[in-house]
This record gives sequence, C-alpha cells and structure tokens, in this order.
Amino acid sequence: MALSSLAGGPYRSPIFRIFLLSILLVASANANHISNWNHNEVCVIHATNNGSDDTPAILSAFQRCGQGGNIIFQNTTYTIHQVMNTTGLSDCQIDIHGTLLWSTDTTYWLNHSMDVGYQNQSSAWFLGGNRITVNGFGYGTLDGNGQVWYDLVKGQSNYPHRPMGLTIWNAKDSTFQGLRFVQSQMWTMAILKSQNVLLEDIYVNSTTHNGNPARNTDGADTIFSDRITFRKWVVDNGDDCISLKANSTNIIVEDSIFHRGLGLALGSIGQYLNQFETIENVYAQNITCFSTRYAAYIKTWTGQQVGYPPNGGGGGLGYIKNITWKDFGVVEINSYPFYITQCTTFSGVAGDCNSSLFEILDVSLENFHGTGASSYAAYMGCSAASGGCKRISIKDMNVTGSATNVTAVGYRCDHVYNTTGFQCN
Ligand SMILES: *[C@@H]1O[C@H](CO)[C@@H](O)[C@H](O)[C@H]1NC(C)=O
Ligand SMILES: *[C@@H]1O[C@H](CO)[C@@H](O)[C@H](O)[C@H]1NC(C)=O
Ligand SMILES: *[C@@H]1O[C@H](CO)[C@@H](O)[C@H](O)[C@H]1NC(C)=O
Ligand SMILES: *[C@@H]1O[C@H](CO)[C@@H](O)[C@H](O)[C@H]1NC(C)=O
Ligand SMILES: *[C@@H]1O[C@H](CO)[C@@H](O)[C@H](O)[C@H]1NC(C)=O
Ligand SMILES: *[C@@H]1O[C@H](CO)[C@@H](O)[C@H](O)[C@H]1NC(C)=O
Ligand SMILES: *[C@@H]1O[C@H](CO)[C@@H](O)[C@H](O)[C@H]1NC(C)=O
Ligand SMILES: *[C@@H]1O[C@H](CO)[C@@H](O)[C@H](O)[C@H]1NC(C)=O
Ligand SMILES: *[C@@H]1O[C@H](CO)[C@@H](O)[C@H](O)[C@H]1NC(C)=O
Ligand SMILES: *[C@@H]1O[C@H](CO)[C@@H](O)[C@H](O)[C@H]1NC(C)=O
Ligand SMILES: *[C@@H]1O[C@H](CO)[C@@H](O)[C@H](O)[C@H]1NC(C)=O
Ligand SMILES: *[C@@H]1O[C@H](CO)[C@@H](O)[C@H](O)[C@H]1NC(C)=O
Repeated sequence: MALSSLAGGPYRSPIFRIFLLSILLVASANANHISNWNHNEVCVIHATNNGSDDTPAILSAFQRCGQGGNIIFQNTTYTIHQVMNTTGLSDCQIDIHGTLLWSTDTTYWLNHSMDVGYQNQSSAWFLGGNRITVNGFGYGTLDGNGQVWYDLVKGQSNYPHRPMGLTIWNAKDSTFQGLRFVQSQMWTMAILKSQNVLLEDIYVNSTTHNGNPARNTDGADTIFSDRITFRKWVVDNGDDCISLKANSTNIIVEDSIFHRGLGLALGSIGQYLNQFETIENVYAQNITCFSTRYAAYIKTWTGQQVGYPPNGGGGGLGYIKNITWKDFGVVEINSYPFYITQCTTFSGVAGDCNSSLFEILDVSLENFHGTGASSYAAYMGCSAASGGCKRISIKDMNVTGSATNVTAVGYRCDHVYNTTGFQCN
C-alpha cells in the first residue's frame, strides 16, 4: 500500500477517492438500514493524536470494512483504551503504517480483558476471520506498554486477567507480515482455533527497563491450531520465544532468530486432568539462538493434578509426536541445548517426575552447533509412567563450552528408549 499516495496528493489519490466513495456508500447503506458494510471499501482510521481513546474509531472501521474491505492505520500513534473484539472478518486487508499503543490503566484491563478459554488466559484484542491479511510493512507496531505490567506483577508468572496483547482467533487462510510487537503486556500473541495462517517477518521485543523481569512474555503460543507457519521471526524476550501448546499440528518455524528467552518450546501441555491433547508434525529449521536458556525444549505437567490452571494442574493425557528440529545455531546459550521435563507442577510443589502419562515420541534433532555453558548436550527427563520417551534421534550435535572449550558430549536420560545418533551417559 503506497502511503505516499495518501500523503502526497490526497484528492488525486485513487485511495482517497475510494475512501470518499466509501463514506457515501456507508452513509447510504446506513440510511437505508440495508447493511452496515460494503465490499471493496477503504476505511482510513483517523487518530485523535491527543491521547484520547482511538478504540471507537478503530472498531467502527472494522465494522464498516471488515467484510471485503481495506482498513488503514496511518503513520501515527493510536491509543487503545478498551478491549477490541474484531472477529468474523472476511477477505479483509489491514494495513498498519503506524503504532497501536495500549493504555497503562491496569485496573481497566484486569477487569475487562477477554477470556480466551484456555489456561484462564485473557486478551486485550481478538482478531480473526477468513482470508485476512495484516501488513505492517516492517514498521507497523503493536506496543503493549508492558513495563507497567512487569512492574505490577513483579515476576509472577500467571497473574489473573493480565491480558496477552493479541489473540488470533478462528483465523483461516490468513497472513500476518512485517509487523513489530514491542513491550507486550503478557504473551505477545496466541494463535487459537486457527488454520492455515502464515506469520512472516515478525519482530518481537519485550525488554524490561528495570529489575522486574519481562516474564511470561512469550513471543507466540499456538493452541488448537493447524497449519501455522512462523517464518523470519526475531524474538527478544523473557520467556518462550515461540511455544506450541495443546493441539498444535503441522507447525513450521523457520529462518528465525531468538534472543535471551527460553528458546523454542513444546508445551507446557498435559495441564488438564484426563484431557487428551497433542502436538504433532512440527518442523523447525534454520534457527539461531543468542543467549537463550535452551535451544529447543519440551515440558509436560506431572500425572498428578495439583491445583487448577493457570498456575496449577496436571494429569493430562496425549502425546507429542513427529518433531524435527534442524540446523540450529546457538551462541552462548545458558543451559542445555535440548531439554525435556515432565515435572511441571504447581509452583513450589515437588512434583513426581515419573507420574505423567503424556507420551513423547519420534523427536529428531539434527545439526545443532555453536557455543554454550553446559557439558551436557541434552537432558531428557522422561516419565516412567508414560513408558518413557521413544525414538529420539540426535545427530551432528556440536555445542562447545565457551569457558571450557570442551564440546558437550553428555546426554542425561531418564527413561529414554530407542535412541539414534547418541548414547545416554
Ligand atoms: C482529542 O481529539 C478529539 C478528536 O480530534 C477531540 O474530539 C477531543 O475533544 C480531544 N480531546 C482532548 C482532551 O483534547
Ligand atoms: C512516519 O512518520 C514519521 C514522522 O512522523 C517519519 O519520521 C517516518 O519516516 C514515517 N514513516 C514512514 C514509514 O513513512
Ligand atoms: C468492572 O467492570 C464492570 C463493567 O464491565 C463494572 O461494573 C465494575 O464496576 C468494574 N469493577 C471494577 C473494580 O472496576
Ligand atoms: C467476539 O465477538 C463474537 C461475535 O460477536 C462473539 O461471538 C464472541 O463471543 C466475542 N468474543 C469475546 C471474547 O467477547
Ligand atoms: C480458571 O478457570 C476455571 C474454569 O474456566 C475456574 O474453575 C478456575 O477457578 C479458574 N482459576 C482461576 C485461578 O481463576
Ligand atoms: C530489544 O530491545 C532492547 C531495549 O529496548 C534492545 O537493547 C535490544 O537490542 C532489542 N533487541 C533486538 C533483537 O532488537
Ligand atoms: C536462515 O535464517 C536467516 C535469518 O532469518 C536468514 O537470514 C537466512 O537467509 C536463512 N538461511 C537460509 C539458508 O534460508
Ligand atoms: C485435541 O486433539 C485430540 C486428538 O486429536 C482430540 O481428541 C481433542 O478433542 C482435541 N481437543 C480440542 C479441544 O480440540
Ligand atoms: C511428520 O512431520 C513432517 C513435517 O515435519 C511431515 O512432513 C510428515 O508428513 C509427518 N509424518 C507423518 C507420518 O505424519
Ligand atoms: C565442532 O565445532 C567446532 C567449532 O566450530 C569445530 O572446530 C569442530 O571441528 C566441530 N566438530 C565436529 C565433530 O564437527
Ligand atoms: C579451543 O580448542 C581448539 C581445538 O582444540 C583450539 O584450536 C583453540 O585454540 C582453543 N581455543 C581456546 C580459546 O582455548
Ligand atoms: C525400543 O526400546 C525398547 C526398550 O528398551 C526395546 O524393548 C525395543 O526392542 C526397542 N525397539 C527397537 C526397534 O529398538
């Protein structure tokens, strides 16, 4: 979308003419009570630019142009003071040339953030529909004003009703590209109940500016979603860079760079007693991790339920299966390049790491190289009750301790069977 044509000669610009036409169309449609939307409309959203709430103007643009139209955020800052639910869109193009800045009124958000229906998490914005394209052109920014949240929760992981920035909800055949997400309130985004979504050229950075950590600022979480591709992501945060959770299938993560967070996560999963959930057919390749804790890791809850989500749970069923992680470059990672735990439980409780019935099968790592801090290449703590982790393959693992100059050759295993390419020691 040529922004210059808007800025340049507005009256001559085709966009501006369509915009004028669309106002007329909307006016006539409303007058006749036929419909409150029209196809091929362009809605340019005007910001108040005085700190007043821009939510009403944004919601009205989605109302008018959400079905077959084009919604344009200009190169300016929009202040968001209210929750937004813009779902059920179709064939909608959303161009973000500026910044959406969420307000710091934590009292408001704690009372109004919208429940996402999983892990008691909630969200400031629900966005979804069929064939949506969201383009930020490399500079369109969603700014959650997260520092106020990091200061409020002071490192507590799940704080009830602390909202994630964006929930991509019931989206199908859609694309998100060229977007920047900074200082997210909680998780940057979740992709929920969505299929066939591409997220490409995405920059995520949630960095605290004081001693309160930017914890639980996951770059993205997938839940109940199929065929999701993450390509060319840069994530710098204080938690999972990208995390695949309950019923995430056919997921690709590629050509991405992670800084400081925990790396690429599967889980946590198995949090809901007797509920059957899976993570299946995952392919990650060409990932570089700078000072992350792990490169790739898996975490399931124990087999015993202790408390309830978000902070408690356990006893879930299901499996993680057919996972390939290939070509990971690691630079000064802090802990094991590869890690499995089935010990996740209510914080402060010593969980029984052998009780989980959640299965982990067919996991393959290939060509992990670079520098780290551990003499272990992998630590795999698999649960006895699940029958252990089966068919784990690790090839071309070459991570050298930067202090020791010794290549990590340790493979710590609990209940790991049918291994290929390495030996537990
Ligand atoms: C902010 O701008 C809007 C739209 O221009 C105007 O209606 C409103 O009165 C202004 N508010 C303040 C506090 O200046
Ligand atoms: C957006 O506007 C600012 C000034 O308000 C300008 O510096 C910047 O170059 C503009 N960005 C784009 C991509 O047009
Ligand atoms: C929470 O929001 C509801 C309406 O949505 C309002 O009635 C109630 O007073 C609010 N409570 C607080 C503590 O702000
Ligand atoms: C969002 O709007 C849709 C359509 O009106 C509605 O079905 C859904 O319940 C709303 N979601 C939330 C979280 O309010
Ligand atoms: C989480 O949600 C469930 C039901 O959705 C509810 O029973 C439980 O009390 C909630 N937990 C917290 C800590 O709010
Ligand atoms: C993230 O932001 C912090 C501070 O704002 C900055 O120091 C850091 O370089 C950024 N990370 C990336 C990858 O751009
Ligand atoms: C690997 O990913 C990086 C970072 O996105 C990219 O610059 C590079 O071109 C990718 N390499 C290949 C072989 O695609
Ligand atoms: C998750 O996937 C499992 C296995 O395919 C299925 O039984 C279960 O109903 C799914 N759960 C949801 C909420 O979609
Ligand atoms: C395993 O996952 C890969 C993607 O990494 C997919 O191409 C393949 O079809 C899957 N295998 C099975 C048996 O589903
Ligand atoms: C491991 O990496 C180091 C440093 O890059 C290199 O010198 C060494 O030859 C590699 N070893 C293997 C077995 O590939
Ligand atoms: C690390 O070991 C390699 C090969 O054994 C050697 O060439 C290199 O000089 C060593 N580097 C340091 C900093 O000791
Ligand atoms: C897999 O491991 C189990 C337990 O060690 C063993 O009984 C079985 O024979 C192994 N299967 C293969 C194909 O190696």
